Amino acid sequence: MQDAKEEIKARLPVEDVIGEYIELKRAGRTLKGRSPWGVDKTPSFMVSPDKGIWHDFSAGKGGDIFTFIMEVEGISFREALEKLAEKAGVELKSFNRDDRNLAAKKRRIKEALELTTKYYQFCLSKNKSVCEYVFYKRNLNKKTVLDFRIGYAPNGRDHLVKFLKSKGFKDSELKDAGLLNQYGGDLFRGRMMIPFFDNSGDVIGFTGRIVGDGEPKYLNTPETLLFNKSRFIFGLAQAKEYIRHSGFVVIVEGNMDVISSHQAGVCEAVATSGTAMTEQHLKILSRLTDDIRLAYDGDEAGIKAAERAIDLANKIGLSLKIISGYDGAKDPDELIQKSPESWQKCVEKCEPAIDWLLKKYENTIDIYSGPGKKQYSDIAIKLIDKISDPVEKKHYLKFVADKIDVEVEDLTNKKLKPEQKRRLKEVKTKKITSSEEKSLRDSLEAILVYGGEAGGEVKLDFPEDETRIAELELIFEKNYKNFKDEDLVREARDLMRRYEDEVIKTKIDELTKSLEENEDNDEETAKILKKIQVLQKQIN
Ligand code: UTP
Ligand code: MN
Repeated sequence: MQDAKEEIKARLPVEDVIGEYIELKRAGRTLKGRSPWGVDKTPSFMVSPDKGIWHDFSAGKGGDIFTFIMEVEGISFREALEKLAEKAGVELKSFNRDDRNLAAKKRRIKEALELTTKYYQFCLSKNKSVCEYVFYKRNLNKKTVLDFRIGYAPNGRDHLVKFLKSKGFKDSELKDAGLLNQYGGDLFRGRMMIPFFDNSGDVIGFTGRIVGDGEPKYLNTPETLLFNKSRFIFGLAQAKEYIRHSGFVVIVEGNMDVISSHQAGVCEAVATSGTAMTEQHLKILSRLTDDIRLAYDGDEAGIKAAERAIDLANKIGLSLKIISGYDGAKDPDELIQKSPESWQKCVEKCEPAIDWLLKKYENTIDIYSGPGKKQYSDIAIKLIDKISDPVEKKHYLKFVADKIDVEVEDLTNKKLKPEQKRRLKEVKTKKITSSEEKSLRDSLEAILVYGGEAGGEVKLDFPEDETRIAELELIFEKNYKNFKDEDLVREARDLMRRYEDEVIKTKIDELTKSLEENEDNDEETAKILKKIQVLQKQIN
């Protein structure tokens, strides 16, 4: 494996691999470009062809070609390795036999699915009444139908099975591809077929919509070697470039919402398929952009799903925006049928999830009554508490206080018992984002390795990973190349002090959180407060 990795690196210049995603300009021995994560104002993405590495100073990420592909495509190391091996023409010889079998199996499934897609496309072209449904009832145009490779699965016991067998596929292969029902016949019958594409544009499965009414409305490929529904994002293959370009993504509920949205010119739309949103879905999307807009259906189920997604996003530190108000339409597709422009406007007019939630509670709770004010502020405080930016937090506190005609103080005082409140006043720590800690660590390690004498000030373990060490050189050259020795020593000391503070603050942060969880346990509360006080004294 290590050999294959080195061989691939040797054959694929880092600037070529990255150059496919980012426009790079030469600046001396390095190349510069804009962060693909869209967080920089000036080009802060650097590539060192000599060392075969990259570092994104604005996003605080870096590594070699494999980590780049993993980050930018949102795939695992294994997948990145396979992808780059193919590009480099390197055979992954060190695959053991199982892996080789698996790869061969996957290839075979892909062939079957590709052929199936063509077969379904052909069947659609031959069926007038289904064409009627696709082109007139669903209003899809020819370009959309071709781009999404929409087709039709004929209504019969085993049309597809017979066809694929005549092309040399075995039952077991069709089963692995997820194309068979329990009797060995066609799984999809009499349905409009929509393929699922992976990142490389290969078909990995299908969703089939019944033509007209019937149950189930949609039938999806089961989990297979290629299709994993908790990771798969419908439409991402088509939307990826647009998302990168416009800097936002729109998550809709249905596959047809995605397709209509693309046809209406909002090509940043994607959906999860046949499953609720998972953490993995969000993580994959968050690698492309941090402007994630949710456009779920306006019905009760859609609102529930949106609330769930907001919770999930909070848990992994993402904030979502909400697109709502479809002008009486139940979902984006229906709105688009009425007016594509309205949909485009809707997407622009998104709002932070917290505004959407507050508005929703405002409309369901009687905020003019005493109990209503209590209920509303209880909920609001919980939401506001999750905000880490102090200015933003203040904004919402003011907003909510005004709404129910009380002072901001009344709100902040609310959730704690009086004696805890007094002591807690002292526990004011700035919320630390992990990236602060990370960037301090980057600088410190760079000095540790390349800073000579100043390295002695850094009380961290010496990094051992070669790629990391090369990356640190890049960081050192950018930040400290022109420092005099004594300045660097002072810098190292200062950074070290700040880093240690950050680490302590993170601990305090965690303890403060557990304080809330133990609100009703006085003994535990006292213990935690004590610990917090001890830590606070340690802050420089
Ligand atoms: P919806 O019922 O909202 O579908 O389900 P839709 O997109 O509006 O479909 P049309 O417009 O009637 O054709 C939303 C999503 O839930 C999944 C599908 O992924 C669908 O796109 N779903 C729904 C299923 O997997 N199975 C079903 O039977 C129904
Ligand atoms: Mn619909």
